[in-house]
Amino acid sequence: MHLTTSALLLAATAVTAHPRSQSSRRPPFQGDFTISQYQLYPENADFDFKTGKLYIGQLWNASLGIYDPYTQQYEVVEFPGISHNPLLNMGGVSIDIRTGRVSLVANGPLEFPTNGANIAGDRWLVSYDAKQKKEVYRVNLTASSQGEYGGFQDVDYDPAGNMFVVGSFPGTLTKVSKDGKKVTPWYLPATINSTNKGLTGIATVGWDLLAYGDASGELWKFDTRAKKGVPMVVPVSGNHNFTPSDAIYLPHKYENKVLLVANSATGVSVFESKDGWKSAKYKGTVPLPLQLDPGAVLVAPVQVGDGIYQIFAYFGDSGLGGQGTAGNRTQFPFHDISDQVDKLLQKCDDDNQRRSQDERIPAAHWYYKGHQRRSEKTTEDEIIETASWYYKGHQRRSEQFEEANVDTA
Ligand SMILES: *[C@@H]1O[C@H](CO)[C@@H](O)[C@H](O)[C@H]1NC(C)=O
Ligand SMILES: *[C@@H]1O[C@H](CO)[C@@H](O)[C@H](O)[C@H]1NC(C)=O
Ligand SMILES: *[C@@H]1O[C@H](CO)[C@@H](O)[C@H](O)[C@H]1NC(C)=O
Ligand SMILES: *[C@@H]1O[C@H](CO)[C@@H](O)[C@H](O)[C@H]1NC(C)=O
Repeated sequence: MHLTTSALLLAATAVTAHPRSQSSRRPPFQGDFTISQYQLYPENADFDFKTGKLYIGQLWNASLGIYDPYTQQYEVVEFPGISHNPLLNMGGVSIDIRTGRVSLVANGPLEFPTNGANIAGDRWLVSYDAKQKKEVYRVNLTASSQGEYGGFQDVDYDPAGNMFVVGSFPGTLTKVSKDGKKVTPWYLPATINSTNKGLTGIATVGWDLLAYGDASGELWKFDTRAKKGVPMVVPVSGNHNFTPSDAIYLPHKYENKVLLVANSATGVSVFESKDGWKSAKYKGTVPLPLQLDPGAVLVAPVQVGDGIYQIFAYFGDSGLGGQGTAGNRTQFPFHDISDQVDKLLQKCDDDNQRRSQDERIPAAHWYYKGHQRRSEKTTEDEIIETASWYYKGHQRRSEQFEEANVDTA
């Protein structure tokens, strides 16, 4: 493709202007909802505001769920060799609104429970054409990483349709050309050690890519047009302490000015930028719901229709086929946090500055405890490791509940 940059920008602007008018023709959609599908187990999701469909990465079945919130219709797309393969999960999913292309990342079931110690096996980026309803290609990410890094868990697009896949063990970015033929390890840390957990979430704004989850606790920005990814730190004002994170998301309704970060321990953190992400302000955190299922872990924020939702993974469910398989759950609630996000955004700009130090969410010590725990353990006892990781997560949540609530009060 030999479009000039300005032609691409014009094309992108034209395409994004169109869907907004389409979506405004649909009835407003907001409020809590529940999808009733046996073993759905969402890990990540993305909403196509052009077609009104929600694309869901179904973790344990390693398949794609397509939900229409307006009609409640549900469709499952399975990928031969990946879906129902006990050695693969499906997490990150992202739709390129411009093309209708859906990208999904298939990862191994043991890398997160072992904190990156076990990254063996094939990993895939799958490209699915939602209009033609067919798989277009799949890219073997174990080949491009030479099996040295993994934890692939999310994907996003630049305006030319190139894909960027974020890996967390350690924090990496892999660029894949639109046709899937060119795969470039695009950003790698100085030392490749899969037990050093890094970036967990990415979100693109035009040619910029925001990335979060590095142990530095900083929000990073990359210029996707560069040959190699070079992280720049986006200065963030407001009392924000780094807490372990998962997916990040720029809801369409805020026109890329608001970044939501899923912090598993505390809730959805809200950041706002009024200068195109040259700088950002931390506005506060929407806490986890009070009636949270004890096995639920916050994994991603997503816009569905006009609402903003928290997505939970149910890591506490015991797999019917053993560890790393689906449990028996059928009801998957999506919790609407739109009003809470709006309230945080409406707060006076200087409000955050006035907050006292003790209102900060103290989760950094947990994070570093996690690191220490990882280096102490051996790679063998995966089951024990999973359990201790899981229960530590629970304890952490109840300890920090009040602080998270105070933050939004
Ligand atoms: C997951 O797979 C099981 C079969 O193993 C099937 O019964 C179930 O309907 C699937 N669920 C979804 C949401 O795809
Ligand atoms: C994926 O790549 C790895 C590493 O090069 C290789 O060992 C494996 O066989 C490939 N998988 C498939 C199905 O081609
Ligand atoms: C699901 O499994 C749990 C144990 O993991 C069990 O307590 C519960 O009764 C099961 N529910 C159904 C509907 O089978
Ligand atoms: C990788 O990092 C861990 C700490 O996270 C350390 O214990 C281990 O020795 C490192 N491995 C290598 C090969 O440097």
